[in-house]
Amino acid sequence: MERISRKGRPCWVLVGGRRRLGRALAEDLARDHDLVLTSSGPWEGESWVAGLSGNSRIRTLVWNAESPELSSRMMADLETLASDGWGISGAVVLAGTFPEQPFGAWTAESLDAAWRMNLGFPFLCAQALAPHLAQSPSGDACLQFLLDTSLHHPWLKRLPYSAAKAGLATLVPGLAQLLGPRVRVVGHALGTILPPEGSDGGFLAERTLLKRIGEPADLCRAVRYAADSPFLTGEILTLDGGRRWVDR
Ligand SMILES: NC(=O)c1ccc[n+]([C@@H]2O[C@H](COP(=O)([O-])OP(=O)(O)OC[C@H]3O[C@@H](n4cnc5c(N)ncnc54)[C@H](OP(=O)(O)O)[C@@H]3O)[C@@H](O)[C@H]2O)c1
Repeated sequence: MERISRKGRPCWVLVGGRRRLGRALAEDLARDHDLVLTSSGPWEGESWVAGLSGNSRIRTLVWNAESPELSSRMMADLETLASDGWGISGAVVLAGTFPEQPFGAWTAESLDAAWRMNLGFPFLCAQALAPHLAQSPSGDACLQFLLDTSLHHPWLKRLPYSAAKAGLATLVPGLAQLLGPRVRVVGHALGTILPPEGSDGGFLAERTLLKRIGEPADLCRAVRYAADSPFLTGEILTLDGGRRWVDR
């Protein structure tokens, strides 16, 4: 079985690789990676994906955090990829939601949904991906998670989201211990890169040391850095233009 991608191109999985930062990362990595992109729904009509596949192999999958068959589907898809010769050496878990409600308005259901999507789903993805990453032909696979600079200053209207990302901050070193030495685990605590609709980009920029919000290219550089740094594991890199050091 061919376990190394063509011409030594690494094969990576981007969980949530369809929209916003996931798409930006896919477009960047497709220059020199084969990619497996997941979304919660069918991929019909995403013509940009065909445009990626000049030199790279691209597979699209449906992994929906709300599906009761999620774990079995992820395992089956990853087995199929392995038997098709895809030796996965990297994965980035981008999927998440960013729910906002005032304290006092959260219900058991809305809390469950926020935590399932932002903590439970990344955990289940890690469980499914880990055995495949551990067999990576390179012997130096890297599993990366997207966290939030809310680790340093929780979002008060988005406390369950902030708490879920804080949970990921424990998952990163925990998984690094469980999965080393063959798999490294790195998190990125992002400041604002693509602001939610209706937010004031200028105001958000002003509240950083660098007086700007981030760009998708900032994330792409950090993800590549983590993948290319064989002595880095169990760490969370904060990428927020210094937001964490500015008083509210
Ligand atoms: N954007 C920023 O400035 C920023 C700042 C700090 C942290 N982050 C973190 O960076 C990551 C990416 O952020 P983003 O703003 O690009 O994305 P996002 O809009 O928050 O969501 C990422 C992806 O999650 C997927 N998703 C939603 N519901 C899902 C479900 N039920 N099952 C599976 N996937 C589901 C969606 O993809 P589909 O619709 O294709 O399923 C969506 O594209 C997130 O983890 C976010 O918390 C982003």
